[in-house]
Amino acid sequence: MALIFTVLDGRRHNREDFTCGVAELDDYLRRRAGQHQRDGIATTHVLIDDAEPVRILGYCSLSAAQLHLHELREDDRKRLPAYPVPAIRMGRLAVSNTKQGRGYGQLLLGHAVNLAVSVRQTMGVRVLIVDAKDERAAAFYEGFGFRRTASAALTLYLPVGSS
Ligand SMILES: CC(C)(COP(=O)(O)OP(=O)(O)OC[C@H]1O[C@@H](n2cnc3c(N)ncnc32)[C@H](O)[C@@H]1OP(=O)(O)O)[C@@H](O)C(=O)NCCC(=O)NCCS
Repeated sequence: MALIFTVLDGRRHNREDFTCGVAELDDYLRRRAGQHQRDGIATTHVLIDDAEPVRILGYCSLSAAQLHLHELREDDRKRLPAYPVPAIRMGRLAVSNTKQGRGYGQLLLGHAVNLAVSVRQTMGVRVLIVDAKDERAAAFYEGFGFRRTASAALTLYLPVGSS
């Protein structure tokens, strides 16, 4: 068994059987993720086990984004120009309900952070943004160092890369 991250491929990955317990997140993977990927709206990354590569264990979707400077905490704003802050948004994160609690959510989050750090070699990215669906999800992100934005408690950011 080896866990692998790859970009969603509708011909190889079984989207129909994915269930995480939140209908909106299941529905996104089944009906919209492929189209969003083709349209350049969001790219979905899936976590799979190479022993059973059709089965999606979890996914996250990423898009380019920006955040108003005033959304950052004062200490995170130091030395930044008075422009919108370049960002990557993790619009969705979900783990299959039979696989939750095994660290896969943490792995997907780490993958998104690694991608954001690697993008910094080609273009500026200062923060990874997430939109938590509720307070529990916000607490999950805070556990990994995400900070609440000033105006939307359920939008959180994580500074990425060296400052
Ligand atoms: C939230 C979710 C992605 C977490 O994935 P997971 O694989 O179950 O989480 P992990 O096993 O990686 O847990 C990592 C840590 O987060 C904590 N955690 C997990 N789910 C949490 C939640 N909903 N709220 C707060 N903390 C949570 C775990 O206790 C663990 O901490 P620990 O290592 O100190 O015990 C997953 O439960 C899920 O898909 N839930 C349904 C969809 C959802 O709520 N998505 C969030 C989108 S905003």
